[in-house]
Amino acid sequence: MMNTDEIMNLALGMAGLDSIPADTGIHVSGENIRKVLIGIDMGTAELLLAKELGYDLVIAHHPSGGTTRTHFEEVVKLQIQQMVDAGISTHLAEKALQPRLDTVKLRAHVSNYDQIISGAKLLGLPFMNVHLPLDLVCRRRFTEIIQKGVASITKPRVKDALAAIKTLPEMQIGLTEPLVYVGSPDNLLGKWIVAMAGGTNGGASVAKAYFNHGFSTIFYMHLAEADKKQLASDPSAGNLVATGHIASDSVGIAPFVHALREKGLEVTPMSGVFVPE
Ligand SMILES: [Fe+2]
Ligand SMILES: [Fe+2]
Repeated sequence: MMNTDEIMNLALGMAGLDSIPADTGIHVSGENIRKVLIGIDMGTAELLLAKELGYDLVIAHHPSGGTTRTHFEEVVKLQIQQMVDAGISTHLAEKALQPRLDTVKLRAHVSNYDQIISGAKLLGLPFMNVHLPLDLVCRRRFTEIIQKGVASITKPRVKDALAAIKTLPEMQIGLTEPLVYVGSPDNLLGKWIVAMAGGTNGGASVAKAYFNHGFSTIFYMHLAEADKKQLASDPSAGNLVATGHIASDSVGIAPFVHALREKGLEVTPMSGVFVPE
């Protein structure tokens, strides 16, 4: 049995974090947790389902309410450091993120940040969400599998990276395939980056910042149609691969499910979490 703090610390440890990021939180704490229901999006319906089926705790991946939604931009701003680590000047990184940050801020302002967590409180059902820590696990796994997959190829192409990604068991269970949104699978892979674990994707402007600073291929989890069109009409754009939202999120979440099971908990995945045996 575990309590919600111990479960949170387990996730933080897997990601190498020492504090809870802004998009992650314990909304209703609980002790003596044995049965866990985990999903990517967990709303009031899933909370009722958990109660009905006798679960002790519901874990969502996406920010479920409270400050995990209203302060979500803090996690999106981590993309600035990702760009700086990749060699982009701080001021250009900041400018590149601004359009996406504006959208995120507006969305947070509109969001009913209380809907789901007020339901959990009324039910007296322990409820938490773990977002960035598991996206960091996801980013690490994608980076490692691509590195490994193209290591022995002299001039790897985008399709070689796609083949490597498809070897991840979560990608094999998931129903979507990684797609080349911009560019071509036959293009050279060149310098590449997995631009994940920044709350959400950085949109067209962050992708452009990478393309303008020596990167030829970017791996996002997802990208909006308008951003795809903007990049497709840009002659300096390289390759943008969207790895597929739900299957990719599972790449980060499945190791957490295994770790909870190793602690003796009974964990049931649902709502888009695919866990290979
Ligand atoms: Fe995610
Ligand atoms: Fe997601």
